[in-house]
Amino acid sequence: MKYQLAFLFLILFGAAYAQQKNKDFTPGTLWPDDKGVHINAHGGGLLYKGGIYYWFGEHKIAGGAGNRAMVGVHCYSSKDLYNWKDEGIALSVSEDPANDIAKGCILERPKVVYNAKTKKYVMWFHLELLGQGYKAARAGVATSNKVTGPYTFVKSYRPNAGFQPYYPPGTDKAEILDCAQPKNKSEGFFCRDVPGGQMARDMNVFIDDDGKAYHIFSAEENFTLDVAEMTDDYTGHTGKFSRVYAGHQTEAPAIFKRNGIYYMIGSGTTGWAPNPARWFTAKSIYGPWTYHGNPCVGKGAEITFGGQSTYVLPVTGKKNAFIFIADKWTPKDAIDGRYLWLPITFKGDDIEISWVDKWNLDVFNK
Ligand code: GAL
Repeated sequence: MKYQLAFLFLILFGAAYAQQKNKDFTPGTLWPDDKGVHINAHGGGLLYKGGIYYWFGEHKIAGGAGNRAMVGVHCYSSKDLYNWKDEGIALSVSEDPANDIAKGCILERPKVVYNAKTKKYVMWFHLELLGQGYKAARAGVATSNKVTGPYTFVKSYRPNAGFQPYYPPGTDKAEILDCAQPKNKSEGFFCRDVPGGQMARDMNVFIDDDGKAYHIFSAEENFTLDVAEMTDDYTGHTGKFSRVYAGHQTEAPAIFKRNGIYYMIGSGTTGWAPNPARWFTAKSIYGPWTYHGNPCVGKGAEITFGGQSTYVLPVTGKKNAFIFIADKWTPKDAIDGRYLWLPITFKGDDIEISWVDKWNLDVFNK
């Protein structure tokens, strides 16, 4: 009996220990999941639901082929953010080459949100149709009744066809465009795309305190970011959107809100190669957004420590706790891409991001 008890204790303790093995974030290193395999969720986003964090991202395969979607969107779950359980493929690419999400297409930066009205999980992503390079520039959407999936592909399109931008109060007159006379390249692209909808590449989805969802995406050949209102069920666009930092080529938008201020961190446009990050604030989600330069400081700041933003995670239950999440891409062997999770430091309402080799959530208690 004594031995049996000891054995039981060992098993229980061992299981608990196995699940708690990571106690820190070590940005840029291999990050094994519960099976010991490097997490495969690139360009990812997180969702907190029922006490659990879910991480969705691009499942990449080895080599250069991994830059295209050969498998789909991978999902992981975690209670502590350090240790992740493999929940499998949430959205699978289609074997039918005529399908919008055909195997070999480009399916990037998936973000999942929960819609309380429809009780559905809604996944948005940047989609490029098979064999067309980055020409299609579409937004794609899939839904599921279960957070981990399987998600069913709904549609893909270019948002806000036929609509002109919304100009929030305080917009600089110079920002107002007239498609009879576009003033520059980006306005020209905007006007060109009005009939068929705006291009939608690097993207994120942000849910505001009132439950309204916004889709933020690089439009106009990546010259401008659009902040677009989504329909109540989160599966479409309403036609109301503003243009942010027009003409300045911002990619990889990640949005969060603190003390009533909207923050956005993005990158420049240099493909897989890192460049300096940039941050913005606004009092209304539509803007006007103020540009503040690079939030990163210290060694490697000029290349965002080798990464490109993908998400900012507010840590549930902690005040002023926001994690900057970036991808360190490895396009020659896509599967080897690394994740840079770094704490955001606030100085008043200003932010800073510094490199840390190893850290944990205790930094937010200070
Ligand atoms: C990056 C973008 C990635 C991917 C890549 C392709 O700038 O953020 O999501 O599209 O370009 O070169």
